[in-house]
Amino acid sequence: MSATANPKVTMPARGLPEDAANLWLDIPSFTDPRGGLSFVEAEKDVPFAFRRAYYLYGVTAPRGAHAHHNLHQLFIAMHGSFTLHLDDGHRQHTVTLNSPTRGVIVGPMVWRDLDAFTEGAVCLVLASQHYDEADYIRNYKDFLTLAQGA
Ligand code: TYD
Repeated sequence: MSATANPKVTMPARGLPEDAANLWLDIPSFTDPRGGLSFVEAEKDVPFAFRRAYYLYGVTAPRGAHAHHNLHQLFIAMHGSFTLHLDDGHRQHTVTLNSPTRGVIVGPMVWRDLDAFTEGAVCLVLASQHYDEADYIRNYKDFLTLAQGA
């Protein structure tokens, strides 16, 4: 049996951390002969309060292709794996998520593309706000203008 200590993860106000290692959140987990159990508590294990959960499954084509003005999110591969391409207009990180015990935190003003979903993969996202189309930036040129003009 093992439990993962909650790391001190700081949330960038916007954009990406310089070091891709700082995207990752270790999720407290217990495993024993019966299997695994992982949990996240808002503002404790995850450095923001979440108001929404959504999940992607049966994915057969790339998804994402947008950024958010204000949203904070935690991505977790509940099953299988997928790749997250992140871009804040200044730096880019590409990470592959393949474990339910590690997630990736994405803050505001980060363009994301998701692809390479394995068959049966499930991506859980915990989000800081309710769904709001006005928070989306869906045009990459508009995103770059906003991100690089700041
Ligand atoms: P979309 O933004 O295209 O998903 P992705 O970012 O994975 O490509 O969302 C698909 C549809 O679902 C779109 O009509 C908006 C809607 N939606 C909600 O109503 N609530 C939500 O929480 C999310 C994430 C999407």
